[in-house]
Amino acid sequence: METKREQWGTRFGFIMAAAGSAVGLGNIWRFPYLTGANGGGAFILIYLGFIFLIGSTVMLAEFTVGRMTQKAAVGAYKSVSRNWTFAGVMGVLSAFLIMGFYPVVGGWATAYILKSVTGLLSDSAAIGDAFGAFISAPIQPLLWTVLFMLFNIFIVIRGVGKGIEMASKVLMPLLIILLLSVAGYGLTLPGAQEGIRFLFVPDFSAVTGNTFLSALGQAFFSLSLGMGCMVTYGSYLPKDSKLPSSAGVVTVMDTFFAILAGVAIFPALFAFGMEPAVGPGLVFVVVPQIFARMGFIGPVLSLVFFVALMIAALTSSVSLLEVVVAYLMDEKKWQRSKAVIATGLVMLVLCSLASLSLGIWSGWTIPGLGVGFFDFFDILTDKVFLAIGGLFLAVFAGFQLKKEDLYRELTNHGETTFPLFDAWYFLLKFIVPVAIGIVAIFGLLDIEQPVLMITGLVIIGLLALFSKKL
Ligand code: PHE
Repeated sequence: METKREQWGTRFGFIMAAAGSAVGLGNIWRFPYLTGANGGGAFILIYLGFIFLIGSTVMLAEFTVGRMTQKAAVGAYKSVSRNWTFAGVMGVLSAFLIMGFYPVVGGWATAYILKSVTGLLSDSAAIGDAFGAFISAPIQPLLWTVLFMLFNIFIVIRGVGKGIEMASKVLMPLLIILLLSVAGYGLTLPGAQEGIRFLFVPDFSAVTGNTFLSALGQAFFSLSLGMGCMVTYGSYLPKDSKLPSSAGVVTVMDTFFAILAGVAIFPALFAFGMEPAVGPGLVFVVVPQIFARMGFIGPVLSLVFFVALMIAALTSSVSLLEVVVAYLMDEKKWQRSKAVIATGLVMLVLCSLASLSLGIWSGWTIPGLGVGFFDFFDILTDKVFLAIGGLFLAVFAGFQLKKEDLYRELTNHGETTFPLFDAWYFLLKFIVPVAIGIVAIFGLLDIEQPVLMITGLVIIGLLALFSKKL
């Protein structure tokens, strides 16, 4: 018996869910440290260019493909042509890989909520070592990851409307309030303008080929593109909802949150004379160090900040889990509950590998690749799979689907108008593939892990050959 496809209850609910997926660790954890490491304003400028030219175009294409086919990642491609199945499978694989490290960081954020008020901030000099000791311990971070995964399972098992939508409608407005309060406080500190200058005045001397690849990968990661997530969310849209404005709103919200996270961190960072280019430890080391210098308000702001980080991570990881769950429900006819639990367990195993690769296995790297599991999952998805997944989606929508069909879907069969259709179609068909191609070549010439990139391409090739039956 075919049951009716689940749907979003309201437009607001859908936008909160899609923005919830987009706004996540990518915005609050990764965007600030990439910005710090790549010269501030120059990186942001390149990133913004990618977001608005490429990201919003691909996002609208993903919504359209999802609603048109009424299918999640794999089914959307497969229902049009079996030759394209591999591109959907690549999305499901990306979901597993991202969920192989994302909940680990989500677990750290959850732990830091508690640590904020249990003495972490009392000795500012010890915060760095404390973070190192925490993430490299074998058991403790894993327990937090399990807790974070349980939140995910709890939400996704309740389904699209009662689970994901309901959670997002409550958590996203809360997230704005929390981050605004931290950013607002940071701006009042003496010396804060230095941080604003760092964020908004470009210094191109730190820009290399790799900067473009990082910015492009970050654009896809941050907007949840290139792996079927927005296709899946689009497949739950009612036929009368407006796609172009939704894609616009979600893109703008995601960008707003990234900048807001920057404003929450950099002004305070410069106010206390600290270094911006510290890498992934930025929000777990430097940010607590900043709070530690603020006196009694410090622990309160720290608590608020890490609740925000956890919420942002949670509304994103549920969307990653949903990509796999929706695939199993659509294509393998699994029950939602079975799909959620089985998928959650596999993801937990991957997370254990990732977490241990930062601790007791930190000396060990995957033979030939030179990185451990955590970095492998992260770099492979962020630098290879997502951008190439976005390229496939653009080529699929631009060359495999018919222009009239896209137009009809985008205008709700003539009920609404979309004056920018021709511009969007041109971007999708020509600019997006060419831009991704150029950036990929640029990046490959200036890449730190060539073997890893090639491994990614080989995996994609194997999928193309062997995934027709999935
Ligand atoms: N967009 C999320 C973030 O910025 C991560 C994500 C990537 C979620 C891909 C879903 C799909 O943290």
